[in-house]
Amino acid sequence: MTINPVLIKSSFAIVEPHGADVAGYFYQHLFEHNPGVRSLFAEHLSDQQDRLWAALGALVTHLEDTETLVGILQDLGRRHAAYGALPEHFPAVGASLLATLAHFAGEEAWTPEVEESWTAVYGVVSGTMSEALTAAKNSAS
Ligand code: HEM
Repeated sequence: MTINPVLIKSSFAIVEPHGADVAGYFYQHLFEHNPGVRSLFAEHLSDQQDRLWAALGALVTHLEDTETLVGILQDLGRRHAAYGALPEHFPAVGASLLATLAHFAGEEAWTPEVEESWTAVYGVVSGTMSEALTAAKNSAS
C-alpha cells in the first residue's frame, strides 16, 4: 500500500471546511461502535475535539517531512500512555477516522485510491504512536 500525498491533501481539503462537525461525527461513530472507550475521554469533549482536529491537520501538513512527522507521532504516542489508550484501540479509531473522512469527502472524491492512501497513512500513524506508547508504558513500570 502506498501513500499518495497529493490524494491525501486534496481529500483533506474537501473535508477540512466542515470543521467541528468532522470531529463531532468521528466521536459519535467511535463511541457508537466502541462504547467501552468512552470512559477514557473527559465528559465534555469540546476542547478535545479541537485538539484532535489540529493534530490531524499537522500530520497532513508534515506528510512529506518524515523526520518531523515521526517526532510528532512519537510525542503524541507517549502522551497517550497517560490517557489509558492501548495499542489494541488503534484499529477502532482508524475505522472511525476513515468512515468520517469518507462521509465528508463524499462518494465522488472518496475513490479506492484515496481510501488506500488514507489506510496507509493510518498504518504509519498507528504503528509509530503504538510503539512510542508501549515504550513509555514499559519505562514507567
Ligand atoms: C490517529 C490517532 C490519534 C490521534 C491523531 C490522536 C490525537 C489526540 C490529541 C491531539 C489529543 C489531545 C491531547 C494531546 O495532544 O496529548 C488526544 C487526547 C486523547 N486521546 Fe487521542 N489520538 C489518536 C488515537 C487515540 C486512540 C487510539 C485512543 C484510544 C482510545 C485515544 C484516546 C485519547 C484520550 C483518552 C485522550 C485524552 C482525552 C481527554 O482528555 O478527555 N487517542 N488525542
